[in-house]
Amino acid sequence: MCGIVGYVGGQRDATPVLLEGLRRLEYRGYDSAGIAVQNGRGLTTRKLAGRVQALADSLEALPVHGESGIAHTRWATHGAPNDRNAHPHLDCTGRFAVVHNGIIENADALRTLLERSGHRFTTETDSEVLAHLVEEAPGTTLEAKVLASLAHVQGTYGLVVISAQERHKLVVARRGSPVLLGIGDGEYLVASDASAILGHTRSVVYLNDGDVAVLTPDGYHVLDAEARVQVRAVDRIDWDVEAIELGGYPHFMLKEICEQPETVCSTLRGRLLSADGTARLNGLHLTAEDRAAIRRITIVACGTSWHAGLVGREILEELAGIPVQVEYASEYRYRPQLEGPATLTLAISQSGETADTLEAIRAAQAAGSCVRGIVNVVGSTIARQCPGGIYLHAGPEIGVASTKAFTSQIAALVLLGLYLGRHGKLSRAAGQDLVTRIAALPDLVRCALALEPQVRALAQELSGAQNFLYLGRGVNFPVALEGALKLKEISYIHAEGYPAAEMKHGPIALVDERMPVVFVAPGGHVYEKVLSNMQEVKARGGRIIAITSEGNGDLHGLADYQLRVPSCPEILSPILTVIPLQLLAYHIAVLRGCDVDRPRNLAKSVTVE
Ligand code: F6R
Repeated sequence: MCGIVGYVGGQRDATPVLLEGLRRLEYRGYDSAGIAVQNGRGLTTRKLAGRVQALADSLEALPVHGESGIAHTRWATHGAPNDRNAHPHLDCTGRFAVVHNGIIENADALRTLLERSGHRFTTETDSEVLAHLVEEAPGTTLEAKVLASLAHVQGTYGLVVISAQERHKLVVARRGSPVLLGIGDGEYLVASDASAILGHTRSVVYLNDGDVAVLTPDGYHVLDAEARVQVRAVDRIDWDVEAIELGGYPHFMLKEICEQPETVCSTLRGRLLSADGTARLNGLHLTAEDRAAIRRITIVACGTSWHAGLVGREILEELAGIPVQVEYASEYRYRPQLEGPATLTLAISQSGETADTLEAIRAAQAAGSCVRGIVNVVGSTIARQCPGGIYLHAGPEIGVASTKAFTSQIAALVLLGLYLGRHGKLSRAAGQDLVTRIAALPDLVRCALALEPQVRALAQELSGAQNFLYLGRGVNFPVALEGALKLKEISYIHAEGYPAAEMKHGPIALVDERMPVVFVAPGGHVYEKVLSNMQEVKARGGRIIAITSEGNGDLHGLADYQLRVPSCPEILSPILTVIPLQLLAYHIAVLRGCDVDRPRNLAKSVTVE
C-alpha cells in the first residue's frame, strides 16, 4: 500500500529522481514520506508526515544530495502517521537505512530480543526492526547482512536497504509485497510499481518472492535465500509516461473516466472474432478438457472488482449457462474450500496485488480448482500466480477510486461469457450478433460521457445531501453498489446500494424528501419492475434520479432528474450506466472540496489483509 523507490548510479543527483518517483507513487499511500541518500560521507535522511509536497518543500529549503538513495511514501499500518514513524528507518548507529512495504508479523518478538541486546528503537513501526536486524547481522557485505536478517523475519516485505559503508549499493528483497528493478544505462532503479521509474527506463525485472537483489552502478544480480545467483527475465513496460500524467485534466479520476472509450476498446482489441461469433482469449490457457470439466465458476475479488464480479455472474450465467457464485476474497479465503477441479475460480483485480484476492487464489489452488485471473497490471503478483487469464490492457489507473478498470473488467467478462458460451449453448448467430453489439460499445461509452454537463448541473443540486440510496435490479444491481461506493469513498457522503425490490424490506424507512434515490433503470427484462419500485419511493416523497436508456419514454413522470445513456443489450448496459454515476460522484466530491484522487484513509492497492 506504501510506495518504494530507490536509485543507484552516481551520474546524477539521486534526490530529484527519488522525489519524482515518490510523486508518481503517492497514490499508493500518502500520510508521510521520506528519503535517505548516500553521498560518500554517510547517509542523510529526511522524513515528514504529510504529502510528498511537504517533503519536497523541506528539501528545497534545506537541500540534500546523493549518488544513491531510497525513498518511501507511507500508508500507516503500525504506528501513527507522524514524522518519526515515516520511512526510511535507521539502526542505532545511523549506518543502515531501510524502506519497507508489508507487515513484519513477528516484529514484537524481534523488538523485544533486539532491545534486550541493547538496541534502541525510535518508532512504533514494525519496519524498524529490519534496520536493527541488519545492524546486528553477521557478514561483511550489505547483502550478506540482509540475507542473514531475513532468516529471522516472518511476514511480508518489499524492502530496500542502503548502507553508509558501501557507497554505491542497494540491496532489495521481496516476499509478498511487489518490487521491481529498473534497468538503466549505468544506473539502476527500484520501485514498488513501474510508474515510479517509467520516466527513466522501460526495462524492468520483476522479482519473485524470496529474491534478494544487489544493485550497483556496474550491474545487478539476483540471489535466492541461500545466496545462489538466479536468472530473471528483463520485461518491457508497454505504456508511455503520458499514461501516468494528468494531461491537462484536473484529476486522474476524471482523466480515467474520460479515457473509457479507449480503454474498453483496448480490452476488446484483437479479441472479437465476428465470423465465428466468439472471442479469442489465448491467454486463458484453457484446453478443451479444462473447458469441458467446468461445472461451476467462483469469482473472488474485493471492492469495485467484486462489483464487476457480480455483473460477471449475470453475464456468464446468461451466455455460458454455468452457475456462478461471487465471493469477497477476504471471506472466501477463511472458509472451508469445497472447490475442486470442476470449479473454475476467477480472480478479478485491477492492481493484481490485493492481498486477500491473492490468498483466495492460493486457497482455491490448494483445493484443486482451476484458477484464472482478470487483471490490469501486467507482471503483478496475481497475474503471475495464475497460470492464465485475461489482461485488461486499460493502462495504469492512478486515481484511488477505480473507474476505467471496472468497465474493462466487465468487457473482459463479456468476452469470457462469449468464449465459454460458444463452446456451450450459444449459437453462432447469437454470438455474431453479440460481437457486433460489443464492438459498438466504445462509441456508446463516448455518448454516455457526453452527459457530463447534465451530471455536473445535477451535482450542484445534490452536493449538500447527507445520504444517498442507489437502487438497481439484475445486472444493474451491482452498478447501484458501485455508484454508492464511488460516492462514499471520494465525497464522504453516506451512500448505500441495494437491490431495488429489497428496499421494501427495511431501507425504505429512510426515504423522505431529503433523500436522493438514484435508480439504475435502463431497458431490460426488469425495467417495469424497477418502475414499480420508483413508485414506492415517489409515494414517500423521495427525490428520484433515474439513470435510464434512450427510448424508455418519460418513466411515467416519476423521476425528478433523468440521465439517458444509449440503449444496448441488457448484459452490456452496466458499462454505460456506471458512467453517469462515476461522473456524479466525481463532481459532488469536487464541489465539496474533497481530494478526489487521494481520499482520506484509502490507498490504491491494498497489499495488507
Ligand atoms: C474502489 C476501489 C477498491 C478496489 C479494491 C480491489 O474504488 O478501487 O474497492 O476495487 O481495493 O482492488 P483491486 O481491483 O486492485 O484488487
